[in-house]
Amino acid sequence: MISKTSKVGIIGAGNVGADVANALVLLGRCVRVVLFDRTLSKAEGQVWDIEDSIPLLKEMEIIPSNQYEDLADSDIIIIVTAGVQPKLGQTRLDTLSDNAEIIRSTIKELDRVAPNSIVIIISNPVDVLTRIAQATSTRAENLIFGSGTVLDTARLRYQLGKQLNVAKQDIHAYVIGEHGDSQFVVWSSAFIGGILLTEFPIPQGATLEQIQQEYAQLTRKRGYNIFERKGYTSYGISTVVCQLVDTILRDEKQIFPVSTRADSNYGVGSEVVLGLPCIIGSTGIERQLLLSRNALEQRLLEESANKLNEAYNFLHN
Ligand code: 2OP
Repeated sequence: MISKTSKVGIIGAGNVGADVANALVLLGRCVRVVLFDRTLSKAEGQVWDIEDSIPLLKEMEIIPSNQYEDLADSDIIIIVTAGVQPKLGQTRLDTLSDNAEIIRSTIKELDRVAPNSIVIIISNPVDVLTRIAQATSTRAENLIFGSGTVLDTARLRYQLGKQLNVAKQDIHAYVIGEHGDSQFVVWSSAFIGGILLTEFPIPQGATLEQIQQEYAQLTRKRGYNIFERKGYTSYGISTVVCQLVDTILRDEKQIFPVSTRADSNYGVGSEVVLGLPCIIGSTGIERQLLLSRNALEQRLLEESANKLNEAYNFLHN
């Protein structure tokens, strides 16, 4: 049961922020939502449009704001669009320098008005922005994480479920690393129900290698393929946020590959922030899990970590 005072703040009232707010209301994930934007009229327009559905749904309150103080006492605050989206042909990392300064100033405001809230970052490049947010904030690190490869993992499971004719919920396969081009699937520890994927009966006409290659690439390109057609992505990431909010407010301890600082046992140092499976509950990141990896997957993890370290260090040199 969620508490009667459960409150989620969203920073950014653009398409993505509004869809996140709308999803929280439609799914009844909390009791109160504050949609913040520097331009109050933008927040008001989105809130009033969402508000019109509330009489037909569970009772909720959604408030437009351009005052950080209105975010006080939020259980969770979602930083949606720090600033610029990648332009066509750009990667998520290309927007880093513009968004880094916005994240720093936003985090300083949140430390002032909501020092104990859990902060979830979904702005891109999410892994590096999460690392900047953790370095900037005074709150405990387990309270700040990014959406990481949660969306990529959902995309993979959807495709695999369709191909193998199995419920998505029974597919335990993770995309880890950068939420971006250097992400990869940990196939060696992928399970369907309790069966290793490598031992699962594959439908006629396909080989496991073909499926692995095709779906890893499909997942990696999915965000760009949607972006090219509608100019942004929002529905998938909105549902990711709703599931993260749910596991926090209900203390469900679900496992998600969020952007978090790597455990040193992953062999990529302990500074880089990237998508790794963690148990998420009422205190945010409760525990990071160590996925077993074969030699190829370890190399891919190191390549992803090096790319993210280079991006972060480029900003700081
Ligand atoms: C996505 O992958 C744009 O990062 C966002 O949908």
